[in-house]
Amino acid sequence: MKFAKIIGVGKYLPKKVLTNRGLEKMVNTSDEWIIARTGIKERRIADKNEATSDLALKAGVDALKNARIKAQDLDLIIVATITPDTQFPSTASIIQSRLGAKKAACFDISAACSGFVYSLIIAQQFIESGLFKNVLIIGAEKLSMVIDWTDRNTCVLFGDGAGAAVVSRCEKPGILSTYMGGDGSLGNLLMVPAGGSRIPTSHETIDQKLHYLRMQGNEIFKLAVKAMTDAAKKALLKAKLNISDIDCLITHQANARIILATGKRLGLSQDKIFMNINKYGNTSSASIAIALCEAIESKRIKKGGIVVLDAFGAGLAWGACVIKW
Ligand code: UT7
Repeated sequence: MKFAKIIGVGKYLPKKVLTNRGLEKMVNTSDEWIIARTGIKERRIADKNEATSDLALKAGVDALKNARIKAQDLDLIIVATITPDTQFPSTASIIQSRLGAKKAACFDISAACSGFVYSLIIAQQFIESGLFKNVLIIGAEKLSMVIDWTDRNTCVLFGDGAGAAVVSRCEKPGILSTYMGGDGSLGNLLMVPAGGSRIPTSHETIDQKLHYLRMQGNEIFKLAVKAMTDAAKKALLKAKLNISDIDCLITHQANARIILATGKRLGLSQDKIFMNINKYGNTSSASIAIALCEAIESKRIKKGGIVVLDAFGAGLAWGACVIKW
């Protein structure tokens, strides 16, 4: 049997911090409202000259260093992003070139906030099938470029950042079970309407702000709690584990109320839930990757611990992974 395991994680956050107080100067909002409704205190914003691949590269280098493997030993690079540098080539191709990972195949995936969990599951398939040995997965976003900074309903929620992991062939199982779900019929609840082949870029689409993210927050909120609760339960069942076996739950970081409601529905005590949404807001595909990295750095996850990664986002797409660290 061949098994897949995360052997190193990394992250990169842009230097610029945008606080809730800073947002108060831009839209009709307040620090109190944002903290009470979302748990977010500040978020990072990439520099004008910083593209998604610049964030992704730094997170990837960090993960390779922690995994103690060379870029030349990578067989595959997957970048999960909804804000790629360009429509094509893929952001993963840019990373392959900049890392000098000459023998690595590379592609991007589009699964929004579930992107990192989906990439992990894809990496697992390539490794356990015997095709590849070392896969670098990166969740990276420059969401600040698709945000309407005059819309208080959305601009307070998101931030930029990147997280990465090296997934490698191992003797013992590291990824115990996975679950993936989706409902494309609800895709319009969270989307960027223009800039693709359905509504190509034009003067009109720009005038109508159709290149910015649109979200029906209330609907998404309820669906997120339900889907992440369900995904975690299904993945645990597959791994033949119970809620009480969880040492650390890392959900997508979209809203502290969603995270805590999911934990409550699972019957999990709050000390088992890792959150860093206060510092970074929602960084879509990067959220779980950055949180995993920080949970390891802060020793919230210890060797042998059971970790559940639980994602939900645009698509709609959701999924969970049970990991033995
Ligand atoms: O990454 C993918 C997943 N994304 C998510 O999971 C996000 C899910 N949704 C949410 O997190 C929440 O629905 C929001 C944070 C977006 C909104 O929180 P809410 O408690 O659902 O508030 P609401 O939309 O029901 O709005 C309540 C009030 C409204 O005013 P009225 O109509 O009651 O007078 C809003 O206009 O709050 C108002 N409001 C704000 N007030 C101050 C909305 N945004 C703001 C704001 N500052 N930034």
